[in-house]
Amino acid sequence: MKRVDDFRLKFGNREFVPIMIGGMGVDISTAELALEAARLGGIGHISDAMVTDVSDRRFDTKFVKNKLKLFRHNIDNSDKSIIKFDLGALAEATRRHVESTMQSKKGEGLIFVNCMEKLTMNAPRETLQVRMASALDAGVDGITLSAGLHLGSFGLLADHPRFRDAKLGIIVSSVRALQLFLRKNARLNRMPDYVIVEGPLAGGHLGFGSDWAQYDLATIIAEVVQYLRAEQLVIPVIAAGGIFTGSDAVSFLETGSAAVQVATRFTVANECGLPKKVKQEYFKASEEDIIVNTVSPTGYPMRMLRNTPAIGAGTRPNCEAYGYLLDGNGGCAYITAYNRELALHPDAKTLSVTDKTCLCTHMRNFNCWTCGHTTYRLKDTTRRLDDGSYETLSAEHIFRDYQFSIDHKIALPGIAA
Ligand SMILES: Cc1cc2nc3c(=O)[nH]c(=O)nc-3n(C[C@H](O)[C@H](O)[C@H](O)COP(=O)(O)O)c2cc1C
Repeated sequence: MKRVDDFRLKFGNREFVPIMIGGMGVDISTAELALEAARLGGIGHISDAMVTDVSDRRFDTKFVKNKLKLFRHNIDNSDKSIIKFDLGALAEATRRHVESTMQSKKGEGLIFVNCMEKLTMNAPRETLQVRMASALDAGVDGITLSAGLHLGSFGLLADHPRFRDAKLGIIVSSVRALQLFLRKNARLNRMPDYVIVEGPLAGGHLGFGSDWAQYDLATIIAEVVQYLRAEQLVIPVIAAGGIFTGSDAVSFLETGSAAVQVATRFTVANECGLPKKVKQEYFKASEEDIIVNTVSPTGYPMRMLRNTPAIGAGTRPNCEAYGYLLDGNGGCAYITAYNRELALHPDAKTLSVTDKTCLCTHMRNFNCWTCGHTTYRLKDTTRRLDDGSYETLSAEHIFRDYQFSIDHKIALPGIAA
């Protein structure tokens, strides 16, 4: 019976434990979590979502405060088009976040940064270019392009000195998305170094519509593998979404995947950025508590816990401080929803907005409890303490459990796999 450790992910002549911890914004996949994956010989992700805010928290910088000071006069204005990110500040925040992570790296693994296209930041091309280029400048091992088709993203990097040496990959949820990406980038003569295929059971935003439940990760992977073979392209395919045990991972590694990307099991790791109380909510969840809805202003369905405080909150849009989802014309679906409710209830003390949520504010405050479909199984990965709470786990324990377990067994804390 095989274990994940019987396989290796190969990039050129380098080999890695074929376990990637997926990027989880905003700072849910912390540097500490990513560094553990690298130390153990796998690949960890940090995320550059809301990176100016992450830098403020990690390094006591004042990027968000300074931006708010600059645009405070606009708070009562529903037109947010004047709110622009200072590209120098964005570069500096990215550099700090990435550089400090890379300086702490130990072991043979790699650190990648997860870069979501949907963070359009009121200047989609310019801000994405700065985010990616600054991460490469700061020495990140690779960039995973996510939450979007990224048809122009390689082009934005083509003149960067590290364009051909850094590892660059993309997350897709269909063979069609991959075909589009490859076709669009053919002229650059630069293939992605890896393709992550994310199925419908993943956490965060989903690359499917409301019919997500009709899709199946193994089927999509088979289509992608077949397509790459037909095109004679040798690109490692990495399976993601709902892989809960080492044996789940092995079944993908035996059928054409070069590695797996996992996240949900690490949401209850000590190193994960979620507050302790929120980790307990993840442990407590039952299957019925895990829902997919359309409250994200990005337009993608998102999976989260039913009791997520972000749902229904009528928070005043915080674009002057944040504004990471402004679409390039100062628009965001949450602003529209909020203004509609404000017009309907002008005298209400508190507003409730149920169809959309202020994702920046709630992700920043860990009040949008996005999670993978298998979250309801987390309670089976640990033990209960005397006070009724669940024991959080070390990232090393979870990583090694994926790496060495067989027979769908899950080692409880304190017991090696
Ligand atoms: C809490 C949480 C937050 C996530 N945030 C992001 C994100 O910011 N960007 C992204 O590309 N994927 C995000 N994901 C998806 C993961 O990186 C990963 O691909 C997926 O969840 C793997 O499936 P699993 O959680 O079932 O193991 C998130 C997942 C979780 C659980």
